[in-house]
Amino acid sequence: MKVFSVSRGVKLYQFGKPYETNAVIIKPELIINEELKYLKKIDDDVFFYKMESDDIVYGLGQSNRGINKRGWIYESFCTDEPVHTPDKKALYGAHNFFIVHGKESFGIFIDSPGKIVFDIGYTNINEILIKPEYPDINLYIIEGKSLYEISKRFRCIIGKPYVPPKWAFGFIQSRWGYKTYEDIRNVAESLDKHDIPCDAICLDIDYMDKYKIFTVNEKSFPDFKNIVDNLKKKGFRLIPIIDPGIKIEKGYKVYENGLKNNYFCVDSNGKEFTAAVWPGLCHFPDFFNPDVRKWFGELYHEFLEAGIDGFWNDMNEPVIFYTQERLESVIEYANKNKTKNMDMSELFLLMDKFTGLMNNHDDYKKIFHKSEKKFLSHYKVHNLYSHNMNRSTSVGLRTFNSNKRFLLFSRASYIGSHRYAGIWTGDNHSWWEHIRLNMSMMPGLNMCGFLYCGADTGGFSCNATADLIIRWTQFSIFTPLFRNHSAMNSRVQEPFAFDIETTKTMRNLIRFRYGIIPYIYSEYMKAVKDNDLFFTPLSFKYSDNISKTNTDQLLTGDSLMIAPVMQQNAFGRYVWLPEEMLLWKTDTLNKKDIKVLEKGHHYIETDLNEFLMFIRPNKIFIFGDPAGNVDSLNCDTLYIIAFVKDKAEYCYYTDDGISFDYEKGVYHKMHISIINKDDDYLINIEGSKDPDLKKLICSIYDKNGKCVEKTVCL
Ligand code: GLC
Repeated sequence: MKVFSVSRGVKLYQFGKPYETNAVIIKPELIINEELKYLKKIDDDVFFYKMESDDIVYGLGQSNRGINKRGWIYESFCTDEPVHTPDKKALYGAHNFFIVHGKESFGIFIDSPGKIVFDIGYTNINEILIKPEYPDINLYIIEGKSLYEISKRFRCIIGKPYVPPKWAFGFIQSRWGYKTYEDIRNVAESLDKHDIPCDAICLDIDYMDKYKIFTVNEKSFPDFKNIVDNLKKKGFRLIPIIDPGIKIEKGYKVYENGLKNNYFCVDSNGKEFTAAVWPGLCHFPDFFNPDVRKWFGELYHEFLEAGIDGFWNDMNEPVIFYTQERLESVIEYANKNKTKNMDMSELFLLMDKFTGLMNNHDDYKKIFHKSEKKFLSHYKVHNLYSHNMNRSTSVGLRTFNSNKRFLLFSRASYIGSHRYAGIWTGDNHSWWEHIRLNMSMMPGLNMCGFLYCGADTGGFSCNATADLIIRWTQFSIFTPLFRNHSAMNSRVQEPFAFDIETTKTMRNLIRFRYGIIPYIYSEYMKAVKDNDLFFTPLSFKYSDNISKTNTDQLLTGDSLMIAPVMQQNAFGRYVWLPEEMLLWKTDTLNKKDIKVLEKGHHYIETDLNEFLMFIRPNKIFIFGDPAGNVDSLNCDTLYIIAFVKDKAEYCYYTDDGISFDYEKGVYHKMHISIINKDDDYLINIEGSKDPDLKKLICSIYDKNGKCVEKTVCL
């Protein structure tokens, strides 16, 4: 074992010869051999930690179950898992960072791209067991005085998160089932007709010619460039899906080029590895090869030339529907048994053989990457496949236009992918439990660097109901990625797809989102720059016991706490206030039903159309007027709701929203402070002001809930 150390509390323990993953960008320097802290290595390759009964475990990014990860076993192995029931161990992301919070508080990051099992009090209620399948790992221990400091230090070594263009904070409409331009145009027209703001519509796999990536079906999308232009003129951007599987078909340019240049993953004999995905049999780009990454990244350019500004990378675990050999052997087995009088176990065995066709780990073991003339086993580095695809896309998009931001979100990822793309949380269901799962995943993802994320609002599979879509949207209006997406054959769930009342509620909600984009964007960008979280568990800020165990409320940016209703037929909920806060119960931006609530437990009633926002004491919430899309947001007048006990402060961030100039320090940070003095308020504005901003209309609340209105002309 070698030990490395970076100043500011990060230590790296190295076991064997770990694979260079590209997850960490600030590398510690070798110092001394030293005993492993907190963890004990047992049974050769298992790491052990004894928890106190009240320790809390945070993190593990996009993993199943609640915010506190205790009491389950998680597998880090990027998996196409379409049914997120509580029994599942592996989902799409491999995010191997977690924080133990208790008498001892520390963070652990296992940087290793193979399968790892995190047993967090599953086998034994008070034990953490970490079992990497391969012993070559980099193990980071991150220490800090607080949960915040630990999470910030980790974020500091893994580098700054991806920043999308500002329009990507608008509403995105999507469905696997829009098959033609007409379908897309109808959606755009319906959104317009119902006055529902929207920035983009996703193109799912049906836009392609026979699911061949980087092609467009010319019958259903004739004159693609013109379609893109037309929709853009109406305020809608199109976001095509890209999968990694490349159809084996003579004459198909992408396939021919990949084959000619040996750009595909191979089997143990060095022959192109073949498996089926949407288009049938495919080869898979070997993203571990830098030439392949460059080639694949540049394939996106044709779309960019046609006016496309964003993409979603899917199926990049990568998904294998079946391999021909396995299919043949299963069919042979079935044929052998077809005349047999099968008992239960024989039937189950047969059924297992069919379900085992998909994403079979033994098939992953047959894939190899060619690096420096050596063969690298895919299985050992499986969790980096999507990461390298996202890296390829991101670099490719940036080479096309080095100073224009692009939208990119992926399904699978590894820590490090957060620098290249956002993620969505995959194929959830229209289940109330999945609103909660969506909420639970957000802080853990933020800790692992993924800030641009969100779930399929309304649920992907299964049938949504009007109340579910409303309650889910009431949460999603706060997530940076805000997309309504659903599966073919499920009930349609666009914001206008239900009854008139629901359409009205959805319109108000989405308009509300557009109104609060100034806050969402400002908080997002500050979280990127300061290695901060966008969604934070209460215990990161408050040390009382109830906040420590709270898992259904979230601090959202610096000024807000949200408490979504996540239960069907519930017209209210209990909320814990760790201190006195300002409650804004509303359904629209102009309904100001605002009052002070004291510290403690409260049951708060909310009609179906209403949701709850809490403004923290001495904090300022800033927002504007809604608009049809982000480009037409008018930010010359903004509104403030402040809860001033003595002095409330806010730092309002803005930039051009399109370029990477913010990386060079080109942005505005305006510091607003409101001081309570002799029952009046002094409003101070300092720092650099967005030149477009002309007026601030402030509603200032004191501890008794008395409101004073003030206008500041800038
Ligand atoms: C996968 C994706 C889903 C998409 C579907 C068809 O299931 O997760 O979002 O709609 O494939 O492309």
